[in-house]
Amino acid sequence: MLLKNALIAAESGTYEGDLRITGEVFSETGRGLLPVFGEEVIDLTGKIVLPGGVDVHTHFDLDVGIARATDDFYTGTVAAACGGTTTVVDHMAFGPKGCTIRHQAEAYHKLADGKAVVDYGFHGVLDHVDAAILNELEKLIDEGITSHKFYLTYAGKISDGEAFALMRKAGELGIILAVHPENDGVVNFLRAELSKSGKTAPIYHARSRPAECEAEAINRMILLAHMANDAPLYIVHLTNALGLGLIKAARLRGQENLFAETCPQYLLLDESKYLEPDGLKYVMSPPLREKSDNEALWKGLQNGDIETIGTDHCPFFYEKEKQLGKDDFTKAPNGAPGVEARMALMYSYGVAGGRITLPQMVQLCSTAPAKLFGLYPKKGVIKLQSDADFVVIDPQKRVALTQSLLHENCDYTPYEGLSLSGWPVMTALRGEIIAKDGEFLGEKGRGKFLKRGLPRLIW
Ligand code: URP
Ligand code: ZN
Ligand code: ZN
Repeated sequence: MLLKNALIAAESGTYEGDLRITGEVFSETGRGLLPVFGEEVIDLTGKIVLPGGVDVHTHFDLDVGIARATDDFYTGTVAAACGGTTTVVDHMAFGPKGCTIRHQAEAYHKLADGKAVVDYGFHGVLDHVDAAILNELEKLIDEGITSHKFYLTYAGKISDGEAFALMRKAGELGIILAVHPENDGVVNFLRAELSKSGKTAPIYHARSRPAECEAEAINRMILLAHMANDAPLYIVHLTNALGLGLIKAARLRGQENLFAETCPQYLLLDESKYLEPDGLKYVMSPPLREKSDNEALWKGLQNGDIETIGTDHCPFFYEKEKQLGKDDFTKAPNGAPGVEARMALMYSYGVAGGRITLPQMVQLCSTAPAKLFGLYPKKGVIKLQSDADFVVIDPQKRVALTQSLLHENCDYTPYEGLSLSGWPVMTALRGEIIAKDGEFLGEKGRGKFLKRGLPRLIW
């Protein structure tokens, strides 16, 4: 396949020209490339070619006890493909209390195998730490699971001592830990207090999980990671200025193995959404914050203080599962859809909006997540011999985002009505076009499990 006359966001720099794909990899870049016999030639004048998106924060088929996320590995990855994302690293759900990581890895292989249409990996998850779990971490490296997540709240939370033991071991092995940071004690105290006084509307979801709750847990984990010989720590779904300030302060003290992810919802939406009649749509943890936090996070992206954009894609139908919370927000399953709109939103509000550059978008949405989670240089980059995963964005295409345009198995998008200037019009995975003009063209089960290597922490 030969892509002609596009603006190409390659690793070596952005250039106007051509890109050749041979088999499953990029094989030649340049200007004025001539087609060889039998080659498909696609003229992309006026379009932009970026590396396929790498979303390292999805929750397909997530079982949260009261409900199950409504996108499975088929529908979720079809949505990813149509939105320009060609690799996902999914966060496993907790299994039966006290189970091994491998127990869940096996369950997840069954969920994804034969269904996924983009390439995928899994982050391990743990609800306790003991000698057996610490031993498993090493064995799982050979199986391509080189990152694990722990939670400081929810039923599967671990203690500070467990987190510290985990960090020390992860640091020794060179793997990376992701943390969901919220102060469980304060969250539960506030939820009980609000509930007692009848404050059960969606806005109290935000009031029960203030930014300080998240920032306190971020800071605590930063210091634990420092005591654990600066073990690599990845902070998921950062929402607020206070937490970002603590991350920056730690880096200024010299703690380098510290990485932060934010998500489009924390850049583009704010807590006023909870006051709307359908406020339950936005019940996610951590909650949406203030407009000033949106702005601080954009600044963090501009300055390189935040490394990645994930989505935390975790959909539930508004008319069904979310209604469990109609009389009490604490009963609603937490999470919202987002895997499909990420690239369009970041192009439109980031690049076209003048907040970040095209190379910054590529770093945030593809290259940095690939590096941190052991996928680079196979994934996340346009470079010779890298997998020919790419997305074509039409910067002229104006779209009013609405749920019916999307393939996510959900009855709403949190971004309903947002005006987009730029839209993904073609996606390819390993040299094969899998989505075009909003239509999925790929094949169920073609997505491959990616045995990930160790994280690359310096770039
Ligand atoms: O509300 C959310 N974010 N649900 C998904 C699980 C998590 O905390 O990442
Ligand atoms: Zn989380
Ligand atoms: Zn999540």
